[in-house]
Amino acid sequence: MERIDIEKFRQTYSAYVDTFREGGRLPEMMELKRVHTAFVAANAKAICSGERFDAHTADVCVLAALLHDTGRYEQLKKYNTFRDSDSVDHAVYSHDIVKTLGWLDRLDPADSDAVLKAVLYHNRRDLPNDMPPLTDTAAKCVRDADKLDIFRVLEDRVKTTDWRKDSTAFWNLKYDLPPNPAVLDAIKKGTSVDYQNIKSIADFVLIQIGWLKSGLYFETSRRLAKERNHFEFRRRFVLELTGYDAAELM
Ligand SMILES: [Fe+2]
Repeated sequence: MERIDIEKFRQTYSAYVDTFREGGRLPEMMELKRVHTAFVAANAKAICSGERFDAHTADVCVLAALLHDTGRYEQLKKYNTFRDSDSVDHAVYSHDIVKTLGWLDRLDPADSDAVLKAVLYHNRRDLPNDMPPLTDTAAKCVRDADKLDIFRVLEDRVKTTDWRKDSTAFWNLKYDLPPNPAVLDAIKKGTSVDYQNIKSIADFVLIQIGWLKSGLYFETSRRLAKERNHFEFRRRFVLELTGYDAAELM
């Protein structure tokens, strides 16, 4: 299998992101997505090596990770929000932009299809179970790599914002409510949580504990999460917020 020139794709992606700069600067919210993307691509690479994927599979996974949020820049520019429910499904948007720009046109069709599907499905509640193996692997890798960076983003936000006073830090969620029993129940059962049930910051953090418990596909992803102490951070934070000890969930 021919290798994919990831470096060239990085340059293409960077040049695309540069078109959103104003006076040389990227709007702050877009800069966060640019940084997020770099971390997701690095996570994907780490998962691929930990899982000993062959070089070609790894290329497809890393490329899909690099492109997974392509639509975020246009979404923010056009709708001034990252909230999909108030604008567009950003995964569909990313998929459509990547396709329209023709970035993958010279790839083997099976590879470009795997990348596009991994982008398209990265935020779905569930993956279709009848996908070709390469597509399935790329889609799972991007979802794990994305979650691993969402863990970092949350911790960064807790550490760098005054979330008790600044209610926008966590989308106006209340910080002093106990966990919603419906959320705890879903996590205990290992089922996905209905996002309607998120009433507080604790619920939001508990959703991520659910991911740590049963939402990651690859052993390497679980190992990375463990090494990065993501569960401990969330356990301490929820305990501080509500007095609830999430140890009983794991
Ligand atoms: Fe995304």
